[in-house]
Amino acid sequence: MKSSTLVKTQTGFKKNIGSVGLPAKKELRKAIPPDYRREIVLADGTRLMVRPITCRDKKAFMRFHSQLSAQTRFLRYHYLKSEITEEDLKCFCDLDYVNSIALVVTKIQEKNADIIALGQFIRVPPDHTAEIALVVEDSMQGKGIGTQLLRHLAILARQQGIHHFVGEVLRNNGKMLSVFNKCDPGLEYEVDSPSTCNIITSVDQIINGY
Ligand SMILES: CC(C)(COP(=O)(O)OP(=O)(O)OC[C@H]1O[C@@H](n2cnc3c(N)ncnc32)[C@H](O)[C@@H]1OP(=O)(O)O)[C@@H](O)C(=O)NCCC(=O)NCCS
Repeated sequence: MKSSTLVKTQTGFKKNIGSVGLPAKKELRKAIPPDYRREIVLADGTRLMVRPITCRDKKAFMRFHSQLSAQTRFLRYHYLKSEITEEDLKCFCDLDYVNSIALVVTKIQEKNADIIALGQFIRVPPDHTAEIALVVEDSMQGKGIGTQLLRHLAILARQQGIHHFVGEVLRNNGKMLSVFNKCDPGLEYEVDSPSTCNIITSVDQIINGY
């Protein structure tokens, strides 16, 4: 069923996403995460798990957020986000897995393992596009997790008919821009303001480079 609705964008601001085939509320309650569990192996041999977030991850998500440094939170949200509200929890953990999917990275062995990284896309107009954002725990940044997470998100996005990721990135966010560039050398940038740029990247290109 199609409906017009306001969604929170990746930096927390509301945007009308229009008619993008959002499931009705009843369908949302039945939404089940894709059966997607993959192993990530880092250069030092560390093995991690990537899987969809579920509503059971709310406490782990709050712990994850509270441990992020001020700089990481600023790079992710473009302001110093401190509190996680009920609305945020819904936005990050209660997903329809069609128009919005979030993947978390955790340790492999532990049940209820802490979240190490989170990446999410939210479909925006036009239909075949989604806004993407990633965040990796401070001590685990620069080890290749963001790059691998982006690729897993691209695989799931492709299954949902999404062809492009867009993202608003701070222009001084070298790590994020480097990850996008590595995955899609044909990445397009548009300078949005003195501090931010909009990127547009091909989901197929991200997958094919895998
Ligand atoms: C941006 C982020 C998600 C990337 O994830 P990550 O796991 O750290 O990234 P990776 O390790 O896969 O890749 C980082 C790349 O940036 C490069 N890099 C590191 N510091 C850099 C810098 N200052 N400038 C440019 N590139 C840099 C690394 O060399 C690496 O590239 P390589 O693999 O070719 O060597 C993560 O660093 C993060 O959470 N940052 C804070 C939140 C954020 O910025 N989110 C993005 C919002 S859109």
